[in-house]
Amino acid sequence: MASSLNDNPALQAPKRSQPLFSSGTGEGQALVLFVLGGPGAGKGTQCANLVRDYGFRHLSAGDLLREEQDREGSEFGDMIKTYIKEGQIVPMEVTIQLLENAMNSTIKDSGNRKFLIDGFPRKLDQAVAFEEKVVPSKFTLFFDCPEETMRERLLNRGKTSGRSDDNEESIKKRFKTFVETSMPVVDMFEKEGRVVKVDATKSPEEVYATVQKQISEKGLESTK
Ligand code: C5P
Ligand code: MG
Repeated sequence: MASSLNDNPALQAPKRSQPLFSSGTGEGQALVLFVLGGPGAGKGTQCANLVRDYGFRHLSAGDLLREEQDREGSEFGDMIKTYIKEGQIVPMEVTIQLLENAMNSTIKDSGNRKFLIDGFPRKLDQAVAFEEKVVPSKFTLFFDCPEETMRERLLNRGKTSGRSDDNEESIKKRFKTFVETSMPVVDMFEKEGRVVKVDATKSPEEVYATVQKQISEKGLESTK
């Protein structure tokens, strides 16, 4: 699978010697916060609050992959479908290209250069490649939540989400991938002092109050 991806000229890792953007909100810049946490930790919910109050554009890697999966004529649709159902991480070339496209079109259409990148990076290789080729993140917002709480939330969401992976079997696989593959990314950023960690067990309102407090300490100001 990897070799067929690498054969696709549209999806070769960009051969740049420096990132497309530097970090910031001016010309040639982009301001990126990574939003990480296990499945069901509340990333999407909190991102919606941050969009409303801080003027970010929300880019969910999972949403972009689901869109690409459903796009008529996508050559990656079937591959993405399998990875999502199995709770595995889609090869980074696809995800990074989708994110870069979404960033470029947002900047072009609205001039907004502030992005919450939700559910990414989920693996060390994509963390390194994105920061080297696209833009270094400002920091990572990490929603810390025990599996039992996440499981309950996901099964609840599964009643209405229509998602192929909000079921017992996929959830188990997603937790395993999170622990084995995605937590090392959080650990790496944490060692670098680049993680803002939030307890995500409480109600959405309480969690958001903590988020606001912690990011204001990082110098981010509400636009409201
Ligand atoms: O973040 P979300 O729960 O929407 O992600 C759903 C699925 O999309 C993941 O379980 C994984 O299969 C895929 N994904 C990925 N790489 C990412 C984000 C999501 O492969 N960076
Ligand atoms: Mg989500």
